[in-house]
Amino acid sequence: MNNPDNFTSELLVNKGHSPGQLLQLLCEIQTHYSHIPPHAIELLSGHLNIPPVQIRTVIDFYAFLHRDARGDFDILFSDNITDRMLGNLSLLNSLCKKLGVEPGVPRADGRVTVGLTSCTGICDQGPALLINGMVVSRLDKDRIHKMVGLIEAGIPIDHWPKAFFLVDDNIQRRDKLLSHGIISGSAIDAMVVKGSDALLKCLDGSGLRGRGGAGFKTATKWRMCRDAEADEHYVVCNADEGEPGTFKDRVLLYSFADCVFEGMTVCAGIIGAKKGFLYLRGEYLYLREALEKTLQARRDAGHLGKNILGKQGFDFDIEIHMGAGAYICGEESALIESLEGKRGIPRNRPPFPVTSGYRNQPTVVNNVETFVAAARIAVFGADWFRSAGTEESTGTKLLSVSGDCARPGIYEYPYGVTIRQVLEDCGAIDTQAVQISGAAGATIPVQEFYRKIAFEDIPTGGSFMIFNQDRDLLDMVQNFSHFFCHESCGFCTPCRVGGTLMQDLVDKVMVGHATSYDLQEMRNIGQIMQKSAHCGLGATAPNPVLDTLEKFPGIYSSRLVNRSFEPAFDLDASLEVSRHITGRDDEGAHIRHEK
Ligand SMILES: Cc1cc2nc3c(=O)[nH]c(=O)nc-3n(C[C@H](O)[C@H](O)[C@H](O)COP(=O)(O)O)c2cc1C
Ligand code: SF4
Repeated sequence: MNNPDNFTSELLVNKGHSPGQLLQLLCEIQTHYSHIPPHAIELLSGHLNIPPVQIRTVIDFYAFLHRDARGDFDILFSDNITDRMLGNLSLLNSLCKKLGVEPGVPRADGRVTVGLTSCTGICDQGPALLINGMVVSRLDKDRIHKMVGLIEAGIPIDHWPKAFFLVDDNIQRRDKLLSHGIISGSAIDAMVVKGSDALLKCLDGSGLRGRGGAGFKTATKWRMCRDAEADEHYVVCNADEGEPGTFKDRVLLYSFADCVFEGMTVCAGIIGAKKGFLYLRGEYLYLREALEKTLQARRDAGHLGKNILGKQGFDFDIEIHMGAGAYICGEESALIESLEGKRGIPRNRPPFPVTSGYRNQPTVVNNVETFVAAARIAVFGADWFRSAGTEESTGTKLLSVSGDCARPGIYEYPYGVTIRQVLEDCGAIDTQAVQISGAAGATIPVQEFYRKIAFEDIPTGGSFMIFNQDRDLLDMVQNFSHFFCHESCGFCTPCRVGGTLMQDLVDKVMVGHATSYDLQEMRNIGQIMQKSAHCGLGATAPNPVLDTLEKFPGIYSSRLVNRSFEPAFDLDASLEVSRHITGRDDEGAHIRHEK
């Protein structure tokens, strides 16, 4: 094995000495050693001129970085509600039992660690897990049995059967984006021929709005960034895709990567950026190699690099930055902090990234799907795009469909499609509810299945999780409230404290100890979070609780045993140790409960 100092030193020589590289260096050290050893922290500190304590806070912020050694095989089961519905916990328990390991604790011989992680974006092919950062899909008893043999034999994962690591695109319905391919370079060619002003006008005319959720007009964002005076401008593709139940960017990055980069290059041409970043979630590490190859092919073809397509001064290149298991880094200002090598704590806004983003320079941040749509619009025109969708939501939307249906996968629809139509197409029967737009989204009951996917009705980043009548929706609510608690960055009180209180109250309902008072508390806390959290995570975290309290009150009321009040803390039981020490168990040593 390499001397740890040599590995880190070589890395520093090869990857430069910029403090902004900290997170990327930590990711590589983590991959090499399965944790960040103390001497690596010292070396990084000396070379990057960052205090060791600051490096440790960065490590502790990201779920995929560790200061303590993990097992040689570091296994994390995906724990979205859809994984739960497919039986992830019983497979985890079975694996732990066969390997003789406690969840979260490395085995004594250092061979293996098994734990849980937030949604890995494989909901259509779950249950899934990550092993040393690589995805294993379609878990079942047989696969778990085979994994045990491979782990005990110490076979490196590079030599495991390829079938373990297969992730299909699983495209079930194609429309404008997925069925109309474009020739590599044709969108940037269109921009060079028409001119960047004309292309921006075309984008404006198309009505394209951001596909990451909020739906800000793309042309407006690009114009604001272009018009912001500065030395440098940047383009960032948000490929963090951490919203539970969302996996459409995974497919675009795997099968349409050239088009994603094409859209970024068009954006660079319009706003005058020389540099772009693809911020790739850590869970999609398995896509990185192919993405790097696509970037190289574009450089070789003159579609990236200096004087793109022979146009003097049109210089632009793209770098891939890895995330490390932090959902909050999908929020654009947290993403920029993370790009700069720091913890992903959301910034105060304004100023917005379009005027003050990466290195405080004007920066466009767009979703993967937005860039694909922009590249298509550059080639096929605004009218072609507008011919699908509704007045306020032009074009099409990719949906990631999972849960209780016969055909989960990717469905591309013109905006305006009803929920009922999607359910019919994917073979969902006896549906009780659909959770749209992920954990932060809306819970839609049967009587609202006439509603439309559109910014003017139900907006979505793309997640569409289906629950049939046999499901207990409180399982979903509990899974999401734990998710938000785990993913809160901890910066502001409403989210850090409110999220924990909410999680505890949901747990209390689950075990049948909650009362009407607790339900009202949940409403109060939820409203405080919505109004006063610092960023979108905290503001949307109570949505599943508030939505189900209103639309599915039965999942709560059916569990209220004592309707007036029940203390969360049993004072008498807590005195048991004192009674034991003092040898007393008479009536006076007990707290009397008033009947
Ligand atoms: C907690 C949180 C997580 C987010 N995650 C993502 C994400 O994974 N991908 C994404 O494109 N946008 C995400 N967003 C929205 C981004 O902040 C931003 O609005 C988006 O990247 C802009 O791109 P668009 O205009 O193309 O939609 C998230 C927002 C919040 C508050
Ligand atoms: S709302 Fe939550 S995630 Fe956002 S800044 Fe506050 S603590 Fe962090």
